[in-house]
Amino acid sequence: MKKKLIGGVTAVLAGIGLYRLISARQHDEAPTAGQWSTADMPDLTGKVIIVTGANSGIGLEAAKEFARHGASTILACRSLDKAEAALAEIRAEIPDARAEIMELDLANLASVRQFAAAFQAQYDRLDVLINNAGIMMVPYGTTADGFERQLGTNHLGHFALTGLLFDLLIQTPGARVVNVSSAAHYRGSMDFDNLMYENGAGYTPMGAYGRSKLANLLFTYELQRRFEALGADARAVAAHPGISQTNLMGHMADRWYFKPVMLVAPLFLQSAAMGALPTMRAAVDPAVQGGEYFGPDGRNERGGYPVVVASSEDSHNEADARRLWQVSEELTGVTFGELAGVNGR
Ligand SMILES: NC(=O)c1ccc[n+]([C@@H]2O[C@H](COP(=O)([O-])OP(=O)(O)OC[C@H]3O[C@@H](n4cnc5c(N)ncnc54)[C@H](OP(=O)(O)O)[C@@H]3O)[C@@H](O)[C@H]2O)c1
Repeated sequence: MKKKLIGGVTAVLAGIGLYRLISARQHDEAPTAGQWSTADMPDLTGKVIIVTGANSGIGLEAAKEFARHGASTILACRSLDKAEAALAEIRAEIPDARAEIMELDLANLASVRQFAAAFQAQYDRLDVLINNAGIMMVPYGTTADGFERQLGTNHLGHFALTGLLFDLLIQTPGARVVNVSSAAHYRGSMDFDNLMYENGAGYTPMGAYGRSKLANLLFTYELQRRFEALGADARAVAAHPGISQTNLMGHMADRWYFKPVMLVAPLFLQSAAMGALPTMRAAVDPAVQGGEYFGPDGRNERGGYPVVVASSEDSHNEADARRLWQVSEELTGVTFGELAGVNGR
């Protein structure tokens, strides 16, 4: 009798849990009036858009929509095999897509420089740079240049890429830089005395991920301030995809909870296509203002259609932003042409 009672209570609790998960699911419902969706994307013919990490997840979905709307879309990827498969997927849906692959490993500054040189040799404009590629919660490790891996890939690689393409951006009317951050930026803090967890000191996978995503926002807001000080016709914008089903969790494949979590993930994660909407809106909605941050409009910004959202107080710390900029320049050896030292910053 007692066993039956415990079994019954457990079943009811499990049912309630499942119901809450499913009811929290906010993906792929049709947009209602006023919600921004791909139907609101303008014609992008003649525009040139780079998407880093375009072979998977958010980047692939965004690249697909940019190509569908006529943009020349560059899939900037570290694995040419994966990029070929992504391009084939895009062409299967959009046979006349103007899309091409260019090799880019953000965890290696030589590759970033090579990419920028190859791009500049081929293109004379850059309308949108989507700094999307990322890794999450990996064990401690370093990039080819000795940077802690998450900050090195997620922030420093993109900082260098943006700086190297800066002249093209500034020459292209209405250009945008979109940095893809995360709600995890709330878990990050800047410690300039041990920015890269030297030899793993104080390293936690979440702390380092959070720091790299906070750096994405500090960089966005500082870039916007510098664009404004320069009077440039360019905008720096940020976005986050809520919680979306992509390969990002794959970095945790060796953890005990990985398999069970992946089993139930489709119940509470929105699709990558929905997760890509804030990035797409930040990139192409004509109404977007520099310095805005887009995320999903659903509960706790986990899923939904893209709207302007708030970010942490730390992300608006101007002193930290200036310092991060200076440190990033020193570490990468990349300065931002006309922007360097603008207004004595
Ligand atoms: N999914 C979410 O719920 C979520 C939530 C918040 C924020 N985000 C952010 O969204 C962005 C996209 O992630 P995702 O969810 O779409 O994950 P994903 O499916 O794993 O895609 C990440 C992309 O980044 C690429 N990448 C990783 N390291 C790279 C490097 N060194 N050089 C060049 N490319 C590299 C990956 O290439 P490979 O395929 O070769 O690994 C892949 O194309 C990330 O910035 C992530 O932090 C995602």
